[in-house]
Amino acid sequence: MTAVEDKAIDAAARGAPIISVRGLVVGFGDKLVMNGLDLDVRRGEVLGFVGGSGQGKSVLTRAILGLVPKRAGEIRIFGKDRDALSAPERRALEQRWGVLFQNGALFSGLTVKQNIQVPMRETRDISQGLMDELAMLKIALVGLKPDAADKFPSELSGGMVKRAALARALALDPELVFLDEPTSGLDPIGAAEFDDLIATLQETLGLTVFMVTHDLDSLYSICDRVAALADGRVIAEGALGTLLKSDHPWLRAYFHGVRGGRLAGSLLD
Ligand SMILES: Nc1ncnc2c1ncn2[C@@H]1O[C@H](COP(=O)(O)OP(=O)(O)OP(=O)(O)O)[C@@H](O)[C@H]1O
Ligand SMILES: [Mg+2]
Repeated sequence: MTAVEDKAIDAAARGAPIISVRGLVVGFGDKLVMNGLDLDVRRGEVLGFVGGSGQGKSVLTRAILGLVPKRAGEIRIFGKDRDALSAPERRALEQRWGVLFQNGALFSGLTVKQNIQVPMRETRDISQGLMDELAMLKIALVGLKPDAADKFPSELSGGMVKRAALARALALDPELVFLDEPTSGLDPIGAAEFDDLIATLQETLGLTVFMVTHDLDSLYSICDRVAALADGRVIAEGALGTLLKSDHPWLRAYFHGVRGGRLAGSLLD
């Protein structure tokens, strides 16, 4: 194969959607949260997902993961519709992604090392010795010191909890990670460090990242594209600069309001 062909295949693989959502409808009782939502997440990108509080960012994440039932529409991950898969095929598919839920969601009764080993124990038939080695590798990967391994979540700072939760999300060497508000609750320095960590991991591990965030700095510094949610649909999707120019009232308020104005100003100059 020539270098040119190689590059073309590379580009095609990068551009192919890893997650493809079409016409998604999700509701609780008579309340519709998603109402005909379309979204693509491409291989190798960091997609930032924004939207007002309560608009359904976490519900969408959970719907994609198959944790919330859909009423209509299609969700494909790695080209596969989980509804069409057998139980073993679904389990195999689920091992290709990792999740950092909003609020970290570590098991409080388990140490960091034990938390990271939960997904390994559930899906792999490997010795405790090997699991210990793998957990220590993940702990180093997310920038935690080795002595964090035997600590319980209550003994960690907020930033360390996020890192530990990320280590658990990476336990099975996923190709895709879902991060729901990974920097919320961190101070600006901690948040920037966490952004750097995500960017480094994305690059070195070739991850695709679906990241729900309110953090304008994260959108600016690490997201390749941004999608915005309002009224149960994706109202805009593209480069941050494109969204900044949108006339949609929520996007205008978000990007050009008190907090976003400075960022928009610097980007549009
Ligand atoms: N299991 C559930 N049963 C009923 N309603 C739910 C359930 N889960 C979520 N909702 C509702 O769905 C809507 C969207 O919630 P969701 O948690 O996805 O919002 P969000 O965009 O993630 O908000 P935030 O930015 O505050 O995290 C809310 O009105 C919420 O009350
Ligand atoms: Mg949420």
